[in-house]
Amino acid sequence: MISLSDLRQFKTQGRKFSCLTCYDASMAKGMEVAEIDTILIGDSLGMTIQGHDSTLPVTVADMAYHTAAVRRANQHAFILCDLPFMSYATLNDALVNAKTVMQAGAQMVKIEGGAWLAETVQVLTRNGIPVCVHLGLTPQSVHVFGGYKLQAKTREAADQLIADCKAVVEAGAAILLLECVPAQMGKEIAELFPHVPVIGIGAGADTDGQVLVVQDMLGLTFGKVARFVRNFMTEQTGETAIVDAFKAYHLAVQDKSFPSKEHTFQVEL
Ligand code: KIV
Repeated sequence: MISLSDLRQFKTQGRKFSCLTCYDASMAKGMEVAEIDTILIGDSLGMTIQGHDSTLPVTVADMAYHTAAVRRANQHAFILCDLPFMSYATLNDALVNAKTVMQAGAQMVKIEGGAWLAETVQVLTRNGIPVCVHLGLTPQSVHVFGGYKLQAKTREAADQLIADCKAVVEAGAAILLLECVPAQMGKEIAELFPHVPVIGIGAGADTDGQVLVVQDMLGLTFGKVARFVRNFMTEQTGETAIVDAFKAYHLAVQDKSFPSKEHTFQVEL
């Protein structure tokens, strides 16, 4: 089973790692066969599984239920689990809710925000719970942003993002996840922290890992699809097509052919 130390080693070696969201046992087994390195039990399940229009209705019980299903079926990947909307608003809530998802099988929790999470990161880490901080476009704040939009588009906003990353890394964040930011930011932030793996989604080709929502990369998202999504199903056929799409994704991340320029945001900062 891949550990946090393995991910740090991958970073040191320049070996890119793959991550997909996953919510159920069948997909988790397919990802095990395809040797996907890390799995995120994302609160995107509010949309992909539950049919809501945002991640806000998702509960800690939902996250624990899906995490347990995935862990039972996959003994290979490092598993991160989102703490959902408002479940880490106080230190006590963060501890109680992180305990629930860790006991369900997660190896790390992911929380969304910036420098203001420093104390939460420190307290969770001290209690044996590794933390990934998700920055840039943070879907739990969609109503603050007024939509799902590219973040850190100006030098000032980019510098603020860097300051937020520094604050949470100093507090003990073990992984950063950057969503929907210019490719230059993914590169700058991954280079800034030699021992902290940085996962990107719409953050360019230079982050240490890449993540996609599984339904997006299998072509199961109807309506508008984000620029950073590539459909890995289109060239696959036959009984193992889904597993082959996972394998193609894993290889494309490793050989750096995904994401290509068409899947990234190029902004001069
Ligand atoms: O919930 C989720 O799927 C996520 C990814 C978009 C990174 O946070």
